Amino acid sequence: MSTSSPYRIAVIKGDGIGPEIVSSAMKVLSSAAARFGFGVEYNEVLAGGCAIDACGVPLPSYTLDACRASDAVLLGAVGGPKWDGIEPSRRPERALLGLRSGLGLYANLRPALLFPELASASPLKNAGAIDILIVRELTGGIYFGENGSYESSDLLADGTVKGKVAYDTEAYSEGEIRRIVKQAFEFARGRGRKLTLVDKANVLASSRLWREVASSVASDYPDVALDFLYVDNCTMQLIGRPSSFDVIVTSNMFGDIISDEAGMITGSIGMLPSASLGAPETPGMYEPIHGSAPDIAGTGKANPLATILSAAMMLRWSLGEKAAADAIEDAVKKVVADGYRTPDIASGADGEISVDTDGMTEAVLKALG
Ligand code: IPM
Ligand code: MG
Repeated sequence: MSTSSPYRIAVIKGDGIGPEIVSSAMKVLSSAAARFGFGVEYNEVLAGGCAIDACGVPLPSYTLDACRASDAVLLGAVGGPKWDGIEPSRRPERALLGLRSGLGLYANLRPALLFPELASASPLKNAGAIDILIVRELTGGIYFGENGSYESSDLLADGTVKGKVAYDTEAYSEGEIRRIVKQAFEFARGRGRKLTLVDKANVLASSRLWREVASSVASDYPDVALDFLYVDNCTMQLIGRPSSFDVIVTSNMFGDIISDEAGMITGSIGMLPSASLGAPETPGMYEPIHGSAPDIAGTGKANPLATILSAAMMLRWSLGEKAAADAIEDAVKKVVADGYRTPDIASGADGEISVDTDGMTEAVLKALG
């Protein structure tokens, strides 16, 4: 509990359902603040498609400055069909990459938790207990490596001219790998003490460096069991034995892919939060892992729980308000156990209470007390 000055939260509502779900999370955050005796001060700024419309760029510099000056960033979602025709370097999604690199948010935490009451929403027949933390490297690798294209008049084996060549490169330094692997070991130490490095070390030199560095960091964590898994095999094992995973650490690209898979097997992408963290003194960024769902924007169908749980992660990892974080997570567990269901998690079973975005938010506020 703190009586000092209010936490400064930069709020990026974004596009599509972003404004609805972020408003829900702000209500819950403010309510938790009142209950636990601390203040929050919101600074709403633009990024994504709405920023392109208002200022011509997806990430205006004032937005990045406002984020840098805050204690944490709460983000909804960006993008939508309206901006699909824009050339790649100015698309709404560039805002996300700019925020990640601009704030130095190298560690992306994506917990994949199956709520027992939602097991029927998982496409897996016998999902069992799933509680996986994916730690994805977020500011390096092929997303930020050297890329380009050129014309080549060289010939292929069959005599065809090669023509245009485009390339992206996956490069990781020892330092980049070490800091994220250390973080992952720390998280594993606080949970099930198992860490799996997911890579493609049978093919990629960069993956072999990940293994080398992870093996050397492992000597500082004798209490954590480290194992290695090729990414193709990992996609199978996540379906075959999801309960056996604890913490996964992996590169930017592999983390992007397997976190979608983990989202799928836990039933609803509308339930999963995320945190992106950098150095201790930099603000963390918190957002649901789902997108802007423009098809349901304004209909009240959006599930606000992933964003509400992202606010809880913010309280835990950036603001140090662990009791408030626990209270929000407990309130979400309670409303799910009590049967409150937005359309994405409804199964039609007896005892379910169908609610819209506001109804779900009200239920969480009530459970929060
Ligand atoms: C994600 C998204 C982004 C990514 C896109 C929108 C740039 O898929 O956060 O997983 O690839 O990182
Ligand atoms: Mg993704």
